[in-house]
Amino acid sequence: MSSKNAFLTFEGSDKAIPLNIVSGSDGPDTLDITSLYKEAGVFTYDPGFLSTASCNSSITYIDGDKGILRYRGYPIEQLAEQSSFLEVAHLLMYGELPKKTELNDFSNIITRHTMINESLLRFFEGFHYDAHPMAMVIGVVGSLSAFYHDSTDIKNPRHREISAHRLISKMPTIAAAAYKHNRGEPVIYPRNDLSYAGNLLHMMMATPCEDYVIDPLAEKALDLLFILHADHEQNASTSTMRLAGSSGSNPFACVAAGASSLWGPAHGGANEAVLNMLKEIGHASNVEKYIAKAKDKDDPFRLMGFGHRVYKNYDPRAKIIREVCYEVLNKLADANNPLFELAMNLEEQAVSDDYFVEKNLYPNVDYYSGIIYRALGIPESMFTVMFAIARTAGWVSHWMEMLDDPRHRIGRPRQLYQGAAIRDYVPLEQRA
Ligand code: ACO
Repeated sequence: MSSKNAFLTFEGSDKAIPLNIVSGSDGPDTLDITSLYKEAGVFTYDPGFLSTASCNSSITYIDGDKGILRYRGYPIEQLAEQSSFLEVAHLLMYGELPKKTELNDFSNIITRHTMINESLLRFFEGFHYDAHPMAMVIGVVGSLSAFYHDSTDIKNPRHREISAHRLISKMPTIAAAAYKHNRGEPVIYPRNDLSYAGNLLHMMMATPCEDYVIDPLAEKALDLLFILHADHEQNASTSTMRLAGSSGSNPFACVAAGASSLWGPAHGGANEAVLNMLKEIGHASNVEKYIAKAKDKDDPFRLMGFGHRVYKNYDPRAKIIREVCYEVLNKLADANNPLFELAMNLEEQAVSDDYFVEKNLYPNVDYYSGIIYRALGIPESMFTVMFAIARTAGWVSHWMEMLDDPRHRIGRPRQLYQGAAIRDYVPLEQRA
């Protein structure tokens, strides 16, 4: 804790209210305003949390100006190149990269809890065949709270850990079942001998008539995308997970809340929106027209996959994904190259346009991820689901961190009330 103070004074008053300046291990200092209302009788106002740190966290660090992302201190570039998603999930949850035996044990736990209760599988029958997979995933992951009554004491760290393991294990199974329901195909059960990403590909792509031969490049690319999407500090879905969990709610219900927030096109839904946008643009000759639309204040169109609340520089994840795009498209899907070329053309024109330069709008993680998913044979409607699988590791880590923190309290923002002043009830027959 820093000993520095800032002083708040009000016009017409001599009183100076001291506010503690707290330094983190990296990043800007924060002004501790917890006593402000008690001391000065005012709230702070910051809709959209533009300048507000909502919690303490030791999980992920971002420097948006420099384009830096680190999980538990490790640069994302190193993790992307050298680790695996399960290593990263362990790192996020426990704070350290696992030793060999620890990784073995963790992988065993995750891969041996991938099955979901058969009654849960029957839930899918209740969904219409064309239900959006995110809608099904949100419903079914929330329904896990109706099972597993053995570990729902959120005050018990071991119960929390078991729930977190279950969520990481079962999300791919739920996701694949949603996909199969869309296709009208029978559910394919998980296989314990496969990797986390390989098992997901198997559950999505195999059929009872034919095994799916997993391409090592597809498996590696999917694992990498999972690493890059695993956490991103206090983004909208993670903050939703924390807020839902702050009241002591069931963890499976909290993940359903986090996933609901992720689904929006301003957040994780952007990957699906990028592909739809590229298809709509269709050809390089239309790029200029769409850039003009994105700049037009009277047009609601935005360049999807562009811009970020925190990054005012190139999103480091987008840089990595763009490189992988070349590799994957060259080997797996020549037919999809035109879309990648169109995306690169659009990026090139946008990043040299004054509007995007002045507003620091660069491609974000979702700009290129959909192109890889498509090359792997994964349809647009599943893109945000893929994101949700990876981000589950981040959601549960933040949820565990919050409940472990003795300073944790229920999240309860205040408001600036601008509604009607007190007025008397008017009986129905007297209302004008
Ligand atoms: N295209 C065109 N203009 C944009 C874009 C865009 N993609 N993004 C921001 N702007 C403009 C805004 O119109 C605004 O202009 P103004 O200052 O003249 O009013 C300015 O840039 C700032 O934008 P805000 O919306 O105020 O920025 P905010 O931080 O609130 O929003 C967000 C960030 C939601 C990501 C935004 O950039 C956006 O909508 N991007 C497209 C959707 C997207 O790709 N989302 C994924 C984000 S990454 C993730 O969640 C995994």
